[in-house]
Amino acid sequence: MQHELTLLQRFAGTFLRDVNLGVILLNTSFELMDISDTACRVLGLHREQALHLPLEQVFADLPIEHQLVRRHILEGVVLRNHAVSWMNNQERYELLVDSNVLKDEQGVVVGAYIIFKDVTNLRSLEEQVQRSDRLAMIGQIAAGTAHEIRNPLTSIKGFLQVLRKTFEDQGMSRESGFTEVMLTEINRINELVNEFLLLSKPKNVTFDYVDLSQVLREILPIINNEALLHGTVVQYEAMHGIPQVVADKELLKQVFLNISKNGIEAMGEGGFLTISERVDPEERKVNIDIHDTGPGIPTFVIDKIFDPFFTTKAEGTGLGLSVCQRIIHDIGGHIRVSSKGFGTTFTVSIPFP
Ligand SMILES: Nc1ncnc2c1ncn2[C@@H]1O[C@H](COP(=O)(O)OP(=O)(O)O)[C@@H](O)[C@H]1O
Ligand SMILES: [Mg+2]
Repeated sequence: MQHELTLLQRFAGTFLRDVNLGVILLNTSFELMDISDTACRVLGLHREQALHLPLEQVFADLPIEHQLVRRHILEGVVLRNHAVSWMNNQERYELLVDSNVLKDEQGVVVGAYIIFKDVTNLRSLEEQVQRSDRLAMIGQIAAGTAHEIRNPLTSIKGFLQVLRKTFEDQGMSRESGFTEVMLTEINRINELVNEFLLLSKPKNVTFDYVDLSQVLREILPIINNEALLHGTVVQYEAMHGIPQVVADKELLKQVFLNISKNGIEAMGEGGFLTISERVDPEERKVNIDIHDTGPGIPTFVIDKIFDPFFTTKAEGTGLGLSVCQRIIHDIGGHIRVSSKGFGTTFTVSIPFP
């Protein structure tokens, strides 16, 4: 019996380490009696400092509903696969928590255990799958409707232009003003539809060798103009002789324009937008960094900015970044964001052959 117990104990010890489980043992006063290394690491605790304290006190800086478990587990409330999000040093963990009471031979409750498993990787994988499902669906709907919207729009626009001309010729300035407003609104719908079409299936895509410096130089006047309107300044730091990439030049322009526009829109008067080029010879990638001195992107928003229709702007479509991501993914690259409270950098990485 003695021997068996030791084996079991050994197994328990090894098992806990191998499967990366966090374990916490509590007594009937809800005080922490023991905690495994994994639990300390994930929860950001020091074993010696946490021992013998009531759990509420261990997590004193968290509101009660965000603490791992509540005192009622001692009354026999059993948790199984209870999902909890945990923040520790800016790092987000997704945990699945189990807990139950421990009883002695007489059936008297002597404490409780909490076991949790870190499933962060699984969860983000799941979210990615859901996201790409959603994207595919939106793409299909977009493809189906965008053309149907654009065709009638074109004829409405044509007739409106005729009307405007007639109104102007007859000196009906009020009416010609109305048609002007209508035409502006139609252009806005047209832009939206164009973004839709890009999101669904970009047509007439022509892949060719592209010099990224040249692409940036060509759109710089547009970006400068945009910056001027917002009272901001653009700096372009070119690198001599960066390798050519294979892409559709017009689509790439759209990507850099979109990201630069977002940066300019995010900054107030006097902000700086810096566009710079880097080559990563090991990964065989060209990186374009677009940095702004805006307010940054809050952590609870950053996960969503690539989702279609996600926008924090009154006039935004929320399609800009999802279109950018699609274009860059299609050529084997990726877009990364880093934003730490102040300022934001979007890095577009594109592989070169
Ligand atoms: N440089 C930036 N600084 C701060 N927030 C940004 C930045 N770029 C993007 N965002 C956020 O991402 C959201 C989505 O951007 P986007 O897809 O281009 O759509 P839109 O510009 O129409 O809102 C924006 O509404 C904004 O909240
Ligand atoms: Mg945008």
